[in-house]
Amino acid sequence: MAGDGAKMQATLSRDEVAGLKLFLGKAQCVQCHAGPLFTNNEFHNTGVPAARGLPADSGRLAGARQVLQDEFNCLGPFSDARPQQCGEIRFLAADNAVQMRQFRVPSLRNVAQRAPYMHAGQFATLREVVEHYNRAPAAPQGHGELQPLGLSAGEVGQLVAFLGALSGPVQADSRWLQSPSP
Ligand code: HEC
Repeated sequence: MAGDGAKMQATLSRDEVAGLKLFLGKAQCVQCHAGPLFTNNEFHNTGVPAARGLPADSGRLAGARQVLQDEFNCLGPFSDARPQQCGEIRFLAADNAVQMRQFRVPSLRNVAQRAPYMHAGQFATLREVVEHYNRAPAAPQGHGELQPLGLSAGEVGQLVAFLGALSGPVQADSRWLQSPSP
């Protein structure tokens, strides 16, 4: 395929296409990783294990409290916004048990280039991430939202392949830097 860079850039392999179908269908990744940035910008508890050696992290439960107390928030004395423009703060509940270990849904763009994964780098590879979703273990605290997916080893590999296709051409692979053959 050497010299075919320009064409390959616009095309997904069979495994990547199969992974895309799983992403949208059976694996339901799109529930949270939606839109051009592959995130709904919401917070969810996906049962990610606690990070060894770090203090306990209650995720959004602590984060929401911190934002509400922050003098630099949208309603704070230094803000230029009108209170009506601060809906996200005005309607943000503090101490809502549902926020326990909810974390922000990250974008999946260029995800293959930024291991390790999750809020404290709990998983070293994309395969470990997908296997976590496939198993859907109980959340260490709070209400985990995942259900086991029943993916075969081959399907796990297809999802991993699709995630690898979400990287920009230049950093992804030096093959893309070659100019197409005349
Ligand atoms: C219920 C919402 C939800 C669903 C469904 C979901 N994710 Fe996620 N995803 C998240 C959240 C929240 C995080 C961040 C968790 C953390 O930081 O601990 C995340 C993190 C990730 C990451 C790590 C990104 C990084 O930069 O660390 C990858 C990769 C990922 N998800 C892929 C998938 C795939 C593939 C599926 C489908 C099998 C999927 N997600 C389904 C909410 C979801």
